[in-house]
Amino acid sequence: MSTVQASTSSKDLVPLSVPSLRGNEWAYLKACLDTNWVSSVGPFVDRFEQDLAAYVGAAHAVATVNGTAALHTALLVAGVQPDDEVAVSTLSFIAPANAVRYVGAWPVFIDVEPDYWQMDPRQLATFLTERCRWANGRLVNRKTGRRVKAILPVHVLGHPCEMDPILELARRYELVVIEDATESLGATYRGTKVGHLGDIGCFSFNGNKIITTGGGGMLLTDRAEWAMRAKYLTTQAKDDPDEYVHHEVGYNYRLTNLQAAVGCAQLEQLEDAITAKRRVAQRYTEVLAGIPGLTLMREASWAKSVFWIFTVVVDEELYGMDSRRLIQALGRGGIQAQPVWQPLHESRAHQGAEVVGGEVAHRLFQQAVRLPSSVSLTPAQQDRVIDGLCNRSGGRT
Ligand SMILES: Cc1ncc(COP(=O)(O)O)c(C=O)c1O
Repeated sequence: MSTVQASTSSKDLVPLSVPSLRGNEWAYLKACLDTNWVSSVGPFVDRFEQDLAAYVGAAHAVATVNGTAALHTALLVAGVQPDDEVAVSTLSFIAPANAVRYVGAWPVFIDVEPDYWQMDPRQLATFLTERCRWANGRLVNRKTGRRVKAILPVHVLGHPCEMDPILELARRYELVVIEDATESLGATYRGTKVGHLGDIGCFSFNGNKIITTGGGGMLLTDRAEWAMRAKYLTTQAKDDPDEYVHHEVGYNYRLTNLQAAVGCAQLEQLEDAITAKRRVAQRYTEVLAGIPGLTLMREASWAKSVFWIFTVVVDEELYGMDSRRLIQALGRGGIQAQPVWQPLHESRAHQGAEVVGGEVAHRLFQQAVRLPSSVSLTPAQQDRVIDGLCNRSGGRT
């Protein structure tokens, strides 16, 4: 954000995605302060867990200090061991791949499909059926000799992955499915909410997500024993309620009551937030559809997307400008636009990791531009973005 802010006063800035805190946040925070419940237990933590579980349709929820901690905990409770392998979407923020490394396992990166930019079930099938073999009741990567234990699809940019073939492969090879549903809270796949399609669903509530707690996360599952273990591990693996007795190394990963208070207030506004995001997306779609060289984000017939951040793909030749120059031009006019993530198989952080495909994610990294999509985006602000895209400039200011 710094380069954009340098040329524009914050009043004129059209940010990519900022929180909208317009409900009971103040009242619930005041209740925490008035009652002294400010730390990692308290009524709002319980309520946030219950309300989110009910919303997504899961039986159990465990709040965590952030989304990365939720993913790390999910991998631990799912029994992913050091030197196991986990199939992860390559087009994603880096957190899920890092979490795989935290447990000493290895990500195998799976390309995304070209239509909705989510984990490609065909590439996943190529990996599991052609590059692995079933031996002694476990799936083993032929090249590395390691056990494949889990699939970690990431529902990016507000849209679900095509889950039926992914779940079918998981059933066939007895793999655990951990969804990273962070960017798509409220989205549905064939009527079921993301985060409740696999064995465990994980969410983040950092500042740019559809609802925020400042920082925070949640792990959801129908399995009571996994939820209990997640609570145990996220609370320093404390084995006695009164005495400080520990049989295992745990983590200090709990969410505070203050953060959960904000989360409860935010959850009350989630449906309005989704409506706002979808309205923003609809307007971009209507107005930008005719511009040569721009391919717009779409919604599959089997999905309801929450359009977390509206994204366009720029064909330099047809549009007359490449994605990075467009981002710079918009930035000069105070409009914050961003590329998507470097494909994880290309990142130095995960150098040497196996990849299946990767060309689609590579092209999207070169060409995709994420546009301002805040819940609070005004029609006038959106006009500026649209103007900027139509004129290949920073738009009217
Ligand atoms: C897909 C995805 N997973 C995980 C995370 C990590 O969440 P956190 O920042 O709360 O650790 C993010 C974003 O921050 C994300 O976009």
